[in-house]
Amino acid sequence: MPTAIDVFAKVRGHERSEQLRAAREADLLPYFRTLESPAAPVAQMEGAERIMLGSNNYLGLTGDPRVMAGARGALERYGTGLTGSRLLNGTLELHLELEREIAEWMGTEEAIVFTTGHQANVGTLATLLGPGDTVIADSGDHASILDGCLLSRAKLRPFRHNRLDKLERALEKAEGDGGGVLVVVDGVFSMEGDVAPLPEIVALCERFGARLMVDEAHAAGVLGARGAGTSELMGVEDRVDLRMGTFSKSLASCGGFIAGSHEVVDFLRVQSRAFLFTAAAVPAAVGAALAALRVVRSEDGPPLFARVLENARYLNRGLHELGFRVVDPQPLPDGSEVITPIVPVVVGDDWKAVLLWRALYDAGVFVNVALHPAVPPAGALLRTSVMASHDRATLDPALARFGAVKARFEAEHGPLPAG
Ligand SMILES: Cc1ncc(COP(=O)(O)O)c(C=O)c1O
Repeated sequence: MPTAIDVFAKVRGHERSEQLRAAREADLLPYFRTLESPAAPVAQMEGAERIMLGSNNYLGLTGDPRVMAGARGALERYGTGLTGSRLLNGTLELHLELEREIAEWMGTEEAIVFTTGHQANVGTLATLLGPGDTVIADSGDHASILDGCLLSRAKLRPFRHNRLDKLERALEKAEGDGGGVLVVVDGVFSMEGDVAPLPEIVALCERFGARLMVDEAHAAGVLGARGAGTSELMGVEDRVDLRMGTFSKSLASCGGFIAGSHEVVDFLRVQSRAFLFTAAAVPAAVGAALAALRVVRSEDGPPLFARVLENARYLNRGLHELGFRVVDPQPLPDGSEVITPIVPVVVGDDWKAVLLWRALYDAGVFVNVALHPAVPPAGALLRTSVMASHDRATLDPALARFGAVKARFEAEHGPLPAG
């Protein structure tokens, strides 16, 4: 007997299909837009120049001659692909150098390089956790963290974003679950750009005997004196068990890593399915990541970190002065403030966010749009992000266009959330 339900039926009538159809018809879809140049401060997109405020190329290194030479050198020496896994035939001396230098940078015993950051999270969480364990995750954590938690079949106890009281409650409950406990948080949250209160999280984990993993995807190469991320900035590096990072942002390439103790990294090397059963990254990606890491760790690194954060502060202040609701820099207990390269503009309504995105795009400014489930329901935002290579000559015209678009937009569609 044939099955009554076609497994493909869902592709015809999923919850977003009507919205998607309408957005496509009106050419309002903010996704899959094509780049026709590098992600420079001014990029060529779909036949026009747009000021690029929608890239994670935080240090502006994707077109840096040293990083390009790293990619080119690896390409020339090893060819276009590795055609196999790290385990069998895809490990280069470049991988080992990269792993050694990441471990030095992070100040850990070892590091392991995965083909993508997504695989680093999935391949770590699904390997270290099992059905008897509990994983406690911030509700704002990246999707790859959630995927790893689900794949592990550990008991998942999510807690409300950055709410330490909820984390404490989850740790109390986890005590009764009977297995090992891992807390996993983003250091910098990818959509809102806010940071996790790591000193308090570390203290709670220590009190309850839980392990802690921090995803530094948006913080590595940006925060801390060495650019080693949120854990460095907040002075808790030696109290965080595992730090994850990606090459797809500040490190101008593609790939990911986990830094931690020898015993954990060694276990991942022989047990992590997302590491073992996938091809190693192409040589050019490894060569570029290594070259970018060397820039970050050289004397040229700190001025780049300072510049990207100064640009974020400038854009944040400018948008605020124009009356947009932007997420404020976060105060730290020592009286300083943390700003990150992610400067979100809160819009709230999905359609308004998409219409505002289109108006900015037409005015020559490219930003990203985050809708539920990337953000909470009714929490749509325009995710702007800056690079070290932006300057006033690009940020001032971007702000002027934001201002002009806002006036026209509000006259037609009503007020945007006020700052
Ligand atoms: C917080 C966070 N973790 C992990 C990832 C996955 O990294 P990758 O793009 O290298 O797969 C991303 C990237 O989107 C991210 O934002």
